[in-house]
Amino acid sequence: MKIPYIPEDAPFNGEQKYWLAGFLAGLHSRLLVLEEKPQAASHAGVTSTNQLNILFGSQTGNAEALAQSAARSARAKGLVPVVQGLGEIDIDLFATMRHVLIITSTYGEGEMPDNAQLFWQALSASTAPRLEHMHFAVLAIGDTSYDGFCQAGKFFDMRLEQLGAKRVSDRIDCDIEYEEPSEQWLQQSMPQFAASAGSSGTVLENLPETPVIPGSNKNNPYAAEIISNKRLSGEQSGKEIRHIEFDLSGSGLTYQAGDALGVIPVNDPQLVELLLTQLKADYDTPVPGFERSLGDLLTWQFEISEPSRKLIEWVGENTTNQELRHVLQHDDRDALGVWLWGKDTLDLLQLELKRTLSISEFVALLRPLQYRAYSISSSPKAHPNHVHLTVAAVRYHSSSRARHGVCSTYLGDRTGRGEKPAIFISPNKAFRLPADNNAPLIMVGPGTGIAPFRAFLEEREALGASGKNWLFFGDQHQEHDFIYQDQLNAWQQSGLLTRLDLAFSRDQAEKIYVQDRMLEQGAELFAWLEEGGCFYVCGDASRMAKDVDQALYEIVSRFGGLSAESTANYIDQLKKQKRYLRDVY
Ligand SMILES: Cc1cc2nc3c(=O)[nH]c(=O)nc-3n(C[C@H](O)[C@H](O)[C@H](O)COP(=O)(O)OP(=O)(O)OC[C@H]3O[C@@H](n4cnc5c(N)ncnc54)[C@H](O)[C@@H]3O)c2cc1C
Ligand SMILES: NC(=O)c1ccc[n+]([C@@H]2O[C@H](COP(=O)([O-])OP(=O)(O)OC[C@H]3O[C@@H](n4cnc5c(N)ncnc54)[C@H](OP(=O)(O)O)[C@@H]3O)[C@@H](O)[C@H]2O)c1
Ligand SMILES: Cc1cc2nc3c(=O)[nH]c(=O)nc-3n(C[C@H](O)[C@H](O)[C@H](O)COP(=O)(O)O)c2cc1C
Repeated sequence: MKIPYIPEDAPFNGEQKYWLAGFLAGLHSRLLVLEEKPQAASHAGVTSTNQLNILFGSQTGNAEALAQSAARSARAKGLVPVVQGLGEIDIDLFATMRHVLIITSTYGEGEMPDNAQLFWQALSASTAPRLEHMHFAVLAIGDTSYDGFCQAGKFFDMRLEQLGAKRVSDRIDCDIEYEEPSEQWLQQSMPQFAASAGSSGTVLENLPETPVIPGSNKNNPYAAEIISNKRLSGEQSGKEIRHIEFDLSGSGLTYQAGDALGVIPVNDPQLVELLLTQLKADYDTPVPGFERSLGDLLTWQFEISEPSRKLIEWVGENTTNQELRHVLQHDDRDALGVWLWGKDTLDLLQLELKRTLSISEFVALLRPLQYRAYSISSSPKAHPNHVHLTVAAVRYHSSSRARHGVCSTYLGDRTGRGEKPAIFISPNKAFRLPADNNAPLIMVGPGTGIAPFRAFLEEREALGASGKNWLFFGDQHQEHDFIYQDQLNAWQQSGLLTRLDLAFSRDQAEKIYVQDRMLEQGAELFAWLEEGGCFYVCGDASRMAKDVDQALYEIVSRFGGLSAESTANYIDQLKKQKRYLRDVY
């Protein structure tokens, strides 16, 4: 869903009033999600003068972790921080806050993270309250490789100003390496919040330093031994999906079903070789300003597969290639996307250039090698000390060269049993099983989207949870791509899996997808929702999750006999009650 920017004079959207009113009643119990102890604050909205409300919009936990770290900085300045997700806040409560720090990521295509969507709807509506009494700042995190860089943060910043709130510090837009700039920004912004809140600036308490366990974040990874790495999809399959198990024994690391694992990859040595040849350099070539050799930097430190924006721009300015020059000159992002599809850094260097790119210049144009996230496919209760992943290897051919996804093929091809890739746990508090073990679960997870649902089912089995479980799964062909078939069949036999609906897209002339199965079973699916069921989606964001969302609207409308507006209200309520959760990528 694109973020609808609703101008001041737009007609009021009545749906918001409905869910806001309903939500207010149950609000108080969810207040005060404090990092440690709540100190003097007894209510998240009506504040003590030096209370700072730190509100986060986060899909996969980065902004949430930053909010916790901002709370430490705030406390050091004598402020009383109250950390809450934007999904926990309603607009009336928000309007009572005086000092607000919003920390948000951006998701989809320049969109709000899921937990901020409803709040944003209310804030951007014409009925949003005036906020002249509020002092605010926005810390946005994102990724410059997306067109809508930090768009969610930009929207919040602009809207709060429009509503009369006063900015205590200019917004910061942080790229993937957000830790250092955001920390610096917090150090600068907290004294300004403290001054506007009239805080003495004295430290209220000496908090013990939290020990950093290796594996607890991307800067402190843990070298976890691979104890199993096997192909799940059949040899005849058009896809290669692997099941990978890591040993966490002795690491002290824990996780929960629904969390993700970050894997720090190592680049493909063949691509490193090709780049060195193109640059006419040896592996050991020194690079001014770096301690490591060029070969090491290309292997461990920089993205060499997907070209960085800076490299694309440099090449665009310095190439005689008319096509690239044309799309860049016309600032046509779609055409650039089409032109770049399947091209890597080496392809760009192989274009005809007007001048030679020096090694130092080249390295300066690269972006740091990023970790990749994988939804964990095991329950720690079923597999103590182990963590499992379900990884689809990205492989394709372009310009007569085989291309390999950096991390998926690092795991698939270059990390056999006994290897120790650098990993860390990436908690995803927004994608958890319901606290109520009796609640029915509806899980939609085609392809690798099955991963967290295997974890959920293992967890429910281990807990002896009595709630019903329904899985929609599919992929291309039943014969080759029915991953975890034995385990799913066993769960059907045991009764853990109440329903399993399969959609193998290429086993017949017409494509059949999971949303087609949902629609076929719409009456029963709606009945499960009415019984308090939780609806989960995992897997491809760009196509599947959007179509599944549309199918859900259709089912609620048709089988609930609801108008378009009431259907939207119904689904907003599901989101508010954390009964419609997504882990999509
Ligand atoms: C929260 C989260 C959970 C995730 N969970 C899982 C999971 O459980 N399992 C899983 O497998 N993945 C999962 N992913 C995706 C995973 O993080 C990686 O994005 C994926 O493995 C690809 O990474 P890579 O390094 O192998 O590929 P990269 O080197 O990053 O290459 C991917 C890029 O290759 C290009 N490309 C891909 N296919 C083609 C093609 N046919 N033609 C031309 N170009 C192409 C595209 O530009 C694409 O962006 C998850 C992602 C997130 C954010
Ligand atoms: N952006 C892309 O073009 C693209 C393409 C492939 C994979 N991916 C990414 O690759 C990763 C792994 O993919 P994966 O192997 O887990 O599975 P996947 O490629 O998402 O495929 C799983 C199943 O979903 C089907 N599917 C395709 N379009 C769908 C739609 N609109 N609605 C519902 N189902 C649909 C596929 O059918 P068919 O393949 O028969 O259509 C297949 O049967 C994910 O990150 C995914 O986002 C992206
Ligand atoms: C599927 C996906 C889509 C994303 N879309 C955007 C985007 O449109 N703009 C942007 O600046 N960042 C985008 N990002 C980057 C995230 O904002 C970034 O990874 C951020 O650190 C995530 O923080 P979170 O864990 O708090 O959600 C996207 C990331 C993913 C995985």
